Amino acid sequence: MKPHIITISNQKGGVGKTTTAVSLAHGLALKGKEVLLIDLDPQGQCATTLGLTPEPGAFYLLTMGTETHETTFLKQYVRNTGREHLWLIAGNQTTMAAQTVLNSQNKPYSVIRESIARFTRGNLNYIIFDTAPSVGGIQERAVWAADMVIIPTSTEYLSTDSVRKMTEMLIMLQQSKGWHGSLLGVLPTFYSDQLREHRAAMEDLRQGFGDRVLTPIHRAAVLGECPGESKTIFEKDPESRAAQEYQDLVQRVLKHS
Ligand SMILES: Nc1ncnc2c1ncn2[C@@H]1O[C@H](COP(=O)(O)OP(=O)(O)OP(=O)(O)O)[C@@H](O)[C@H]1O
Ligand SMILES: [Mg+2]
Repeated sequence: MKPHIITISNQKGGVGKTTTAVSLAHGLALKGKEVLLIDLDPQGQCATTLGLTPEPGAFYLLTMGTETHETTFLKQYVRNTGREHLWLIAGNQTTMAAQTVLNSQNKPYSVIRESIARFTRGNLNYIIFDTAPSVGGIQERAVWAADMVIIPTSTEYLSTDSVRKMTEMLIMLQQSKGWHGSLLGVLPTFYSDQLREHRAAMEDLRQGFGDRVLTPIHRAAVLGECPGESKTIFEKDPESRAAQEYQDLVQRVLKHS
């Protein structure tokens, strides 16, 4: 059994990438799937959101070779999150240095996929990458590693531009870099159906991306409270609309994998 690899990415900041990565990862784990969440953002927020400490796990994943002793070393950084079936390779500031190393050594697009191959022979069902709001180096390689990509995008501003840049990147990777994955969907976040601008942003997204636009996640104060309490939405308020909306995303992923 090979795990499905999902990358959450958008070069725009603060659009709900980490919230989506953590919620999806925990949602799948609650369905009994074995999930490894990997934080490729130097901010290290996957760790803090789950109540763990940021550390250089991602740095080692990105820079170490695949010799047995290197794998043994790296496996020490696969942390038990204290939640059944959910594991984490955390990141911290050193992830930035890893990006410099990758770029200066001119590592191929396939480098992250090759590095995680050592984890794909076990009993994992899903590997989920959270990424930083930036372009270059790690982002493209994390997308290249994925079978499926999810692009969260805020409906608080006209979001089509950054989504279009992302989809252009996906097409470039498919057409000229031999990437075999695909876009699972664009996930509208921070949505308020009462606001005309938000409805306009949704309409704009639907015109551009058709049925690739997933059911939106509404703006919900409870989601903003989760990181500070080191809880996922399924722990903080499993009955909330936000939990239900992320549950729908979990179902969508299960259906497509
Ligand atoms: N639907 C939502 N409603 C309200 N608050 C949200 C929602 N989604 C995320 N948040 C909050 O908004 C902030 C930004 O979200 P998040 O960290 O997930 O975005 P991000 O895209 O990962 O940001 P960055 O680009 O900095 O990595 C966080 O404090 C998060 O708790
Ligand atoms: Mg983030």
